[in-house]
Amino acid sequence: MTRPITTICCIGAGYVGGPTMAMIAKKCPQISVTVVDISQPRIDAWNSSELPIYEPGLDEIVFECRGKNLFFSTDVEGAIRDCEMIFVSVNTPTKKTGLGKGKAADLTYWELAARTIAACSESDKIIVEKSTVPVRTAEAIEKVLQRNCPHDGVRFDILSNPEFLAEGTAIVDLDAPDRVLIGGKIENAKGQAAVDALVGVYSNWVPKENILTANLWSAELSKLAANAFLAQRISSINAMSALCEATGADVQQVSHAIGTDTRIGSKFLNASVGFGGSCFQKDILNLAYICECHGLPEVAEYWHSVVGMNDYQKSRFVKRMISAMFNTISGKKISMLGYAFKKDTGDTRESPAIDVGHGLIEDGAKLNIYDPKVAAAQIALDMGEEAMKSITCCKTHTESLTGAHAVCIMTEWDEFKTYDWEAIYGVMQKPAFVFDGRLILDHQKLKDIGFIVYALGKPL
Ligand code: NAD
Ligand code: UGA
Repeated sequence: MTRPITTICCIGAGYVGGPTMAMIAKKCPQISVTVVDISQPRIDAWNSSELPIYEPGLDEIVFECRGKNLFFSTDVEGAIRDCEMIFVSVNTPTKKTGLGKGKAADLTYWELAARTIAACSESDKIIVEKSTVPVRTAEAIEKVLQRNCPHDGVRFDILSNPEFLAEGTAIVDLDAPDRVLIGGKIENAKGQAAVDALVGVYSNWVPKENILTANLWSAELSKLAANAFLAQRISSINAMSALCEATGADVQQVSHAIGTDTRIGSKFLNASVGFGGSCFQKDILNLAYICECHGLPEVAEYWHSVVGMNDYQKSRFVKRMISAMFNTISGKKISMLGYAFKKDTGDTRESPAIDVGHGLIEDGAKLNIYDPKVAAAQIALDMGEEAMKSITCCKTHTESLTGAHAVCIMTEWDEFKTYDWEAIYGVMQKPAFVFDGRLILDHQKLKDIGFIVYALGKPL
C-alpha cells in the first residue's frame, strides 16, 4: 500500500498555485502545504489581508488554513527539501523570441524550477506537472532532474495533473471538479505507486469515479485538447453571430436551439466580443505548433482558425462601432464598461478590451474605462504609454458614462445589468449608443429609453 502524503510544496503562487493549494490544505488538514514563489511581493500579498488575486470564496479558505497547514514563502529550496510531493505551477507563456516564437510554449520557468528541484532534493520526490505544457514535457523534465541531482539514489517520479479550473469560479471548480486527471507511468509499479499517492490526496474530497488516470502523454495532451475544444465552441458561436447579424437571425435563439440537443450541450455557447484570458490563445498556438512540428500542417491550420475567428470578432466589433457612429469616432468619448477578460476576476491577460481599446483609440476615440476589479495601474501597463494619453480610468460607472457618446460592454459584470439606464441616458451625449459585446443588457428596454443599440448577433 502507498504511504499517504503528508508534505506538499507548490512552486508558483499564481492563479493556479494559490487556489489549488488552498483547496488541498482545506480538504486535507493532515497535509502540510507550502506554496513558494520567486516573487517576494506576491508572497507578501499571500501573507497579507489583501490577497494578490481576486477569486470569490478564496479569502475565506486562505484565512482559515494559513499558518495552520498552509504556508506561503520565498524559501523555494527549503520547501523542496522538506516535502514528498512537488506541484509545479509556474507560468508557461508563448515564446517571444527564437525558434517557435509567437507559437511554442516558453518552458524557461519550468526548466528553472526543475533545475532547482534537482539541486535541492536529498530524498525521493513525486513531481506533479500542474502547469499546462506541451505533450512529452515530462520526458524532458525527467532528464533535467536525473542529470542535475548531486545526491545519489534520489528518485523522481513525474506525474501530469493538468488543472481545469476557470477563473472567477476557481473555488467551486476545485471543490467539485468534473474530473481530476492524473497521468503517470502506470505501466510500471513505481509509476503506479506515484499515481496512487496523488489519487490519495484528491480522494480526500473528490469521488473516486471522478479521478481519471491515464498515461503521461495522454494527460498532457488532454489539457491542450480541452482548452482547444472550449475555445472552438466560442469561435463557432461567434462566427454564427456575424451570420445572424447579416440575416436577421438572433444568436441567442440559435444557441438555445442548438444547445438543447444533448449531443451539443448548452454550455459555452455565449457569443461575445471574443474570448480572452491567459490560456486559450496560448494553448491553441502551442497545440498548432506541436502539430506543425509533427508534420501535420492541416491539423495546425484547423486549430489556428479558432484564434483567427477570435481576432476577426474583436476587429468586427470595433468596425461596427465606428460605422454605427457615422464612420467617425475621432474625439468622441466612449465609455468602456468592464476591462477584465471575464466577470468575477481582476485578471486582464489577453482581455478583448485591450484590442478593442486600441482599435478605438487608433480611430481617434477617447476612452473612459471603468471595471469594478481592475486597478488603473494594470490598465496603464496593458495599454501602454501612448494609448494612455487617450484613456481616463474611472472610479465609478457614472464618471465613465457622463458626457460619453457611446458605451461598450466588454465584461459581463452582473452590476452592469442593474444600473439605472434611464439616468445614464440623461448624462450621455445624444444620440446615445450602446454596444453590448456580452449580450447582458435588456436591449428592448434600452431602445425604449432612446438608446441606439447594437448587440452582437442580434437583429438591428
Ligand atoms: P501566474 O503567472 O499567475 O503564476 C505563476 C507564478 O510562478 C508566478 O507568480 C511566478 O513568479 C512563479 N514562478 C515562475 N518561475 C518560478 C520559479 N522558478 N520558482 C518559483 N516561482 C516561479 O500563472 P498561472 O495563471 O497560475 O498559470 C500557471 C500555469 O497553469 C500555466 O501553465 C497556465 O497555462 C496553467 N493554467 C492556468 C489557469 C488559469 O486559470 N490561470 C488554469 C489552468 C491552467
Ligand atoms: C479556461 C477554461 O475554461 C478552464 O477549464 C481552463 O483551466 C483555463 O482556461 C486555463 O487553462 O487557463 P478561463 O480562461 O479562466 O478558463 O475562463 P473561461 O470561463 O473559460 O473564459 C475564457 C474566455 O472565454 C473569457 O473571455 C470568457 O468571457 C469567454 N467566453 C466563455 C465566451 O466568450 N463565451 C462563452 O460561452 C464562454
